[in-house]
Amino acid sequence: MVRGPQLLGELARLRPFVDADVERAWDLVQDPEGMRLTGTSASFTREQIAAWVHDVQERPGRYDWAITSAVQRDGELVSDEMFGEIVLNELDEDARSANLRLNLLPNYRGRGYGREAIGLVLGYAFAADGLALHRVSLDVLDINPRAQMLYESIGFTVEGRLREVYRDGDRWADAIMMSILEHEWEPDGDIV
Ligand SMILES: CC(C)(COP(=O)(O)OP(=O)(O)OC[C@H]1O[C@@H](n2cnc3c(N)ncnc32)[C@H](O)[C@@H]1OP(=O)(O)O)[C@@H](O)C(=O)NCCC(=O)NCCS
Repeated sequence: MVRGPQLLGELARLRPFVDADVERAWDLVQDPEGMRLTGTSASFTREQIAAWVHDVQERPGRYDWAITSAVQRDGELVSDEMFGEIVLNELDEDARSANLRLNLLPNYRGRGYGREAIGLVLGYAFAADGLALHRVSLDVLDINPRAQMLYESIGFTVEGRLREVYRDGDRWADAIMMSILEHEWEPDGDIV
């Protein structure tokens, strides 16, 4: 079963994972800065990543998308190559809430893909004919001002802070808890 539809924006196309995404998923976990900024301290084998990509769409309680380019030429997509991932996990159907995470390969950061990918996922998350969620939350480390400013500009509100919850080299980092509620989401202002 494939969970979650394709979501098409101006820059980014979000689609379910396919086995061919293993290489790029492996690249994501090989990027030290991405691992640091997402607070991922675990290390993975290539076999673990291949298995994860293979069955991620069938895992309950979550919707995962590969981020690809939306650019078309002569009506055909120029590339189907994944360059990032975005996920709604910790789905709670009673509370109508979920958690959001995303990560882009280094060459694709700072080009607007993250903003648009979040907008597409929130649109689906809050839509009555989508997941009809009430709340989407996330956490961001205080060593990641780019991500925090992006989330605030999209409409996420800071709710609190887990102090010194992550070890960043020889220092501690706090996790900032943020959320956005369905009535706070303004789609027109956020999708480029
Ligand atoms: C965080 C991340 C998903 C954001 O996606 P992105 O495509 O790079 O972000 P965008 O280009 O859409 O927007 C970035 C915004 O931050 C701003 N920004 C860029 N660098 C910044 C910095 N050092 N400090 C503050 N803001 C910064 C940009 O000006 C832009 O704002 P704008 O849209 O108003 O111009 C992406 O950079 C990424 O994958 N980073 C590594 C992993 C990570 O941090 N994941 C999130 C963990 S919570």
